[in-house]
Amino acid sequence: MRYGLIALIPFGIVLAIFAILKFEHPPIDSTQLGFRGTGIVQVDNPRTEAALAKLNQPPESYGPTEPGGPLASEVYENVRVLGHLTEDEFLSYMASITEWVSPEQGCGYCHNEENLAEEGLYTKTVSRRMMQMTQTINADWGAHVGGAGVNCYTCHRGQNVPAYYFVEDDLQPEAGGFSASRNNQNFAADENVYSSLPYDALDKQLTQDDVLIRVQSDNALPYFGEDLVPIQDAETTYSLMMSMSQGLGVNCTYCHNTRAFSNWEQSHPARLVAWHGIEMAQHLNAEYLAPLASELPEHRLGPKGDAPKAKCATCHQGIPKPMYGADMVSDHPKALTQRAE
Ligand code: HEC
Ligand code: HEC
Ligand code: HEC
Ligand code: HEC
Repeated sequence: MRYGLIALIPFGIVLAIFAILKFEHPPIDSTQLGFRGTGIVQVDNPRTEAALAKLNQPPESYGPTEPGGPLASEVYENVRVLGHLTEDEFLSYMASITEWVSPEQGCGYCHNEENLAEEGLYTKTVSRRMMQMTQTINADWGAHVGGAGVNCYTCHRGQNVPAYYFVEDDLQPEAGGFSASRNNQNFAADENVYSSLPYDALDKQLTQDDVLIRVQSDNALPYFGEDLVPIQDAETTYSLMMSMSQGLGVNCTYCHNTRAFSNWEQSHPARLVAWHGIEMAQHLNAEYLAPLASELPEHRLGPKGDAPKAKCATCHQGIPKPMYGADMVSDHPKALTQRAE
């Protein structure tokens, strides 16, 4: 009997080590965000926060260039989206995008360095579209990015391809025919944050406009009009919400009062910003990122041949405001916020 108990000691030690490593131990911070009693509160682990702070610092700023000088459209042969910059602004922008996207490869990542005007590398074609997308984000989506703005670094962080994006998964294809459909559920994947919820929520809800992101119907009785919400859509909505929460590193209560998820009056104002964020992601994916499938080499595409697309984490990378809301545009205001005429 005594030996039996002693034999349990190593087991206890392993369990204790597991508990220390696996569970969030105190102290934990909590911040009240909404009215008293509504439970609108954000819970953070100060240790995770310190690691995140290290990862989410803005790039070094070199300050804006001196005004004046000839326009890039006059000096260069083949500029289609940045002709409105002066030569100085143009070259300073080229130096910055190199730091933001290809610091290791340098200018040669997008250019034949013998002839900078030449087309030919797909990275140059893709970058031109990326430049237009970035201008659109800053010029048209002020309702979401207004305070800080974005530049290439917001998503890329010094890497050729951003760390977070999504493509259509091809996990365990279904049998088809008369066999029951799984509705893409019960398969732990990055997209459903390793839950049993559908893993294709982002494909359905972040790639096109006019999708219903709903769980509660407006009507009590079964209703077969425009606002009918099938159970499958409810599950997809929860899956998207999981992905949003993870992308921002927040709880559901950062935006919702959990006694009435659908009620806007009882929600935190951040929910409205998030609503614009959903609309923006849908627009960026439909107009800019999905169509790039025809330009990208095959090894950049998903298993079903679609291009990588943006989700909340692409910019946010685990915090509520990318780079803690640092100003990302004032070094290159014209290149990042204005379109060439
Ligand atoms: C991430 C891709 C990328 C990198 C890196 C890059 N460029 Fe560019 N560059 C472009 C794109 C896209 C254009 C075309 C812009 C346009 O159409 O308005 C361009 C155009 C140019 C032009 C105009 C050429 C002409 O006559 O039409 C010059 C000069 C230039 N880049 C210099 C540089 C230098 C110098 C570097 C390195 C410090 C660099 N670029 C790094 C994407 C890049
Ligand atoms: C193109 C980059 C980008 C994408 C994609 C993006 N956001 Fe944002 N978001 C930002 C920026 C930049 C800010 C900060 C704006 C500011 O400082 O006012 C922000 C702010 C927010 C805020 C306000 C946070 C606060 O504490 O006030 C919320 C909420 C939010 N985003 C939710 C989302 C959600 C949800 C998604 C995905 C559906 C998303 N965002 C996708 C760039 C992005
Ligand atoms: C909203 C996020 C976002 C912003 C902002 C952004 N990109 Fe991208 N970029 C992506 C995603 C996602 C991919 C991967 C999909 C693809 O290649 O089309 C990508 C891919 C690229 C690639 C292809 C890299 C490769 O090796 O295949 C280049 C080059 C690039 N971006 C340049 C830029 C430049 C230059 C800017 C700023 C003017 C910029 N990006 C801004 C999200 C972004
Ligand atoms: C960053 C803000 C944000 C976070 C965090 C968030 N949501 Fe949402 N939620 C929204 C927005 C915005 C909508 C409305 C989308 C629309 O109308 O297009 C929504 C809609 C919903 C709905 C549908 C309500 C209805 O009208 O039927 C439910 C349910 C929901 N969220 C649950 C959750 C849950 C559960 C979590 C945590 C896992 C969560 N949300 C996290 C912003 C958020």
